Amino acid sequence: MEKITLNSPFDMHIHLRDGDMLKLVAPLSSHTFCGGIIMPNLVPPLDTKEAVVAYKNRILEAIGSDDFTPFMTLFFKPYTKEFLEDVKDEISAIKLYPAGITTNSEGGVSVIDTEALAPTLNAMAELNIPLCVHGETNGFVMDREKEFMSVYEALAVAFPKLKIIMEHITTKEAVELVQKYDNLYATITLQHLFITLDDVAGGMLKPHLFCKPIAKRPEDKEALLNIALSGHSKIMFGSDSAPHPKHKKEACGCAAGVFTSPIALQVLVELFETHGKLENLEKFVSQNAIDIYKLTPSSKAITLVKKDFVVPEAYEGFGEVVVPMYAGETIKWSLEK
Ligand code: DOR
Ligand code: ZN
Repeated sequence: MEKITLNSPFDMHIHLRDGDMLKLVAPLSSHTFCGGIIMPNLVPPLDTKEAVVAYKNRILEAIGSDDFTPFMTLFFKPYTKEFLEDVKDEISAIKLYPAGITTNSEGGVSVIDTEALAPTLNAMAELNIPLCVHGETNGFVMDREKEFMSVYEALAVAFPKLKIIMEHITTKEAVELVQKYDNLYATITLQHLFITLDDVAGGMLKPHLFCKPIAKRPEDKEALLNIALSGHSKIMFGSDSAPHPKHKKEACGCAAGVFTSPIALQVLVELFETHGKLENLEKFVSQNAIDIYKLTPSSKAITLVKKDFVVPEAYEGFGEVVVPMYAGETIKWSLEK
């Protein structure tokens, strides 16, 4: 039987939520990944050291004995250097959301002005704290990311020593820009390597494929696929796995987010195999993250075998129900038991 082993797989952008949902979904990440960058958009957002530490402890409790390191983040606000020095050892990055752009981002930044943000961003650069950015304007939905490129460019130029991670990129413009400045890096999700707007809304509406940023055009997907498959050193896998209860997805007013944690590695192996690029997969899911974030690799290794895996219709527990991407469909690779 064909097999592949992935060493030290990291998910560099995940939403683990809190409470019962955390208890349900955290083990579904820690089962296969050895660590991940944990998003801070809880209610209220994580903006104190105490809140970050307490959340980290709740995550560790939820994953039990699995070998999984939660790399914590703070929700971006204008922070003082003293505050950042104090919190530095507890976090791996700070995540900036434009105000109101996505789930629980109301407390984000209203105007991204490099001068106004300079005290915080300069302190972050000095302390080697990377800035993760949700890069969308509040313009027309298909143009939001493209319009944000000038903001990324302004940040990259004004803060050359700041590591800036362009989160969940979805456009060919972002693929071009990340390669233009030394201090820009990017994550790519699972869904954006597979779907375009057509898959979301071209036929019957597919709520479980609805996320922010919305999937774009075929040429955008092509650009994302090419750079991910190439193993490009600035590109990391960040699932942006974003669970919402089934009743909030299958609703009038569908919450944004695609839940992919439990299927991500199986689907990525199938994708890289189909394109004859399996030799680059470990760069995308591990090595690039290790180099960019200066992580210590884990000894965890996940073996996948070429055997059909039927994706469950839903994952249930602790009173929560969440529907994964590709529910009920068959993937050609499974986790080795
Ligand atoms: O689709 C999304 N869901 N995009 C985000 O940026 C946030 C996420 C969530 O937290 O649900
Ligand atoms: Zn996210």
